Amino acid sequence: MADFLSAYSIQSWLESCPQSYLEDTVYGHGADEGEAELVIENEVLREDSIRTTVALVVGERCALSASSGLINLAPDEGSKRFLATQTLDEARHVEIFTQRLFDLGVKKDNLETTVQRYANPNLIKFAELLLEKIDNKDFVAGVVGQNIVLEGMAFSVFEMMHTANAEMNPKFAHTLSGTIADERRHVGFGENRIGSLIQEHPEKKPEVEKMQKEMSYWMLATFSDAFKQTQAIDELDRIGEQRSHARFHGTDLGLASPEEMEAVLADTVLKEFKTRLGRIGLDYQTPSRP
Ligand SMILES: [Fe+2]
Ligand SMILES: [Fe+2]
Repeated sequence: MADFLSAYSIQSWLESCPQSYLEDTVYGHGADEGEAELVIENEVLREDSIRTTVALVVGERCALSASSGLINLAPDEGSKRFLATQTLDEARHVEIFTQRLFDLGVKKDNLETTVQRYANPNLIKFAELLLEKIDNKDFVAGVVGQNIVLEGMAFSVFEMMHTANAEMNPKFAHTLSGTIADERRHVGFGENRIGSLIQEHPEKKPEVEKMQKEMSYWMLATFSDAFKQTQAIDELDRIGEQRSHARFHGTDLGLASPEEMEAVLADTVLKEFKTRLGRIGLDYQTPSRP
């Protein structure tokens, strides 16, 4: 427990996050970096980026609500303090992705209508399942839903977006890299803290496994919608703009079709779930395919 407490303390958060990779950033990126001009000037790419960024805002609002709710459910002081740092991280993620919507030309007065217009209903179902566990004061299910399922998903989605944007949109890629570093810490906490709780409460396993299966279903449905809706790939081809040939888990993102991208993302996330759940003593449940 001593190592656990120092690894997830506020002191270690200060040293590894605000005083380290976030130092000198402005809304998560360099002060001199702006959104890629191509995205701002091309209406199809701009709308596509707004839709994607709304998904990030919706996911991060859910994480903010979940992590703050978990503070008062945590059975020990060390976890409460870690969750307080996580709450601030998630609030920051909401803020930087909201700021990106403004950078993409969304007017401040239109923020909520824009979020409502583009929010994916399947992602909302995913979020509701998790927040329901927290409303029911279920710490074990809440941490698995938040720190393994939601953040495992976010981690891979951010990594894929980071890979695709590193060359084309360094400002957005930098915003993502700080977020990825935060999510890595959150997933680590989930794995480290929850294993012993599952051992103490084996009776909770079936319910938590059922939640993982259901959340995974809504996640796959969200991915399916997102890759069907995206017009960025066709538009880049139409205007003769090269896509970056960076690779994500063996797939060349400059050549892959939207279906192939969806498949590699879904595969990566589900494999991660399986590994992480196995480490904390839960049996991964294969979701039905939407
Ligand atoms: Fe987050
Ligand atoms: Fe997180």
